[in-house]
Amino acid sequence: MADGDSPAADMVMYGPRGMGKTVLLNWLVDEAKRGEANDNSIRTSSATPNQLKNPAEIWGFLLSDEGWKEKLLSGETTAGFDAKVFFAKTWKEKSPTNKILLNTLISECKKNPLVFLLDEAHKMEPEQCLALLNISQQVQNEAPFLLVLAGTPGLSHFLTTVNASFVERSDVIGIGRLDAQATADAIVKPLNEHGIEIDDTTLAQVVEDSQHYPYFIQLWGAALWDLAKEKDLQKLTSQEITEAETKVENRRLNFYEKRRKTLSDLGLLPAAVAIATIFQDTETTTMDTLIDVIADNSPVDSPATQSVNEHLQTIIRHEFIWNPPDTDLYEAGIPSLMKYVLDRQREHVQERSSKPNQEIPAKNGNSDLDLGP
Ligand SMILES: Nc1ncnc2c1ncn2[C@@H]1O[C@H](COP(=O)(O)OP(=O)(O)OP(=O)(O)O)[C@@H](O)[C@H]1O
Ligand SMILES: [Mg+2]
Repeated sequence: MADGDSPAADMVMYGPRGMGKTVLLNWLVDEAKRGEANDNSIRTSSATPNQLKNPAEIWGFLLSDEGWKEKLLSGETTAGFDAKVFFAKTWKEKSPTNKILLNTLISECKKNPLVFLLDEAHKMEPEQCLALLNISQQVQNEAPFLLVLAGTPGLSHFLTTVNASFVERSDVIGIGRLDAQATADAIVKPLNEHGIEIDDTTLAQVVEDSQHYPYFIQLWGAALWDLAKEKDLQKLTSQEITEAETKVENRRLNFYEKRRKTLSDLGLLPAAVAIATIFQDTETTTMDTLIDVIADNSPVDSPATQSVNEHLQTIIRHEFIWNPPDTDLYEAGIPSLMKYVLDRQREHVQERSSKPNQEIPAKNGNSDLDLGP
């Protein structure tokens, strides 16, 4: 882009929560800033959907502050008109198809290419999202402009409902778990930088327990770090691990329970349990299998208008399963959430059978233990 080339496509990144999408967007901004001193340096602008509620706000994020108002006021792009009147009208309308604004953005991008990053893009209002996609396409035809959308696995479906072919035309990147080496690096490097060592066996244990999932790696990293600081340790061994493990485990259970509760509130826990049962014997499954399982376990009181496919999309939106790019197969979303859901279901069944004639008391103040059949 710094050489004046338009990227061939926009970029869509999606993956379950906690995989590192936001971290990756911030990294992209840092990378772009490395050329800051150059004349044709890449400009970046970052937003979230609640900042883009109307076209005016979208333009506000796309156009650089200095450039466009001056240009419009000086009458440079409005020859033959009263610039101020025109400016006022343009400003008031600020429609997504406003040619003046588009041309201003194009000329800005010719000088300084723009990377526009939108996090949590699945939460965008469809109308505003469509406006943004259209602007992007028009600018990209003429100048170096890159739109980067990041969001949860529901993003792909959402974008397809906004514009049928957009995802097909984009560079789609699935943000999944790390490999073992990257996981080890994420633990070791920050500790080493501060003179803290960790022995190999201990590291292997942490890497395995994190399931290579960035959010859990972060929990482990924080717990180990706190421990080392608290006890003034230069070397972490399996002794410390046990202590840190309790901390990590508590946070993790809390994280799982919140997600299980959400599924339960949506009436989708029976379907989730059935899906988790399938995943006990496989790492991937097809959409047809999922549809069948959900149809057999749909919430009893869900409105007739809600189709099985909508339930599937809801389950995807809540990261229970996801469909990485370039495959038709579905995988587990947040690692081990399925195992947690199954374990809780088993506990529930056991409690029931051990107290057949009694109402089961709510555990931890949580009264939504009726998981259906
Ligand atoms: N490559 C990585 N290595 C190690 N830790 C990482 C990595 N990427 C992200 N993390 C850590 O994982 C956690 C989740 O990252 P991040 O917030 O970017 O995820 P996200 O995909 O944006 O999640 P959400 O969908 O909830 O916004 C953070 O604590 C972050 O520091
Ligand atoms: Mg994020």
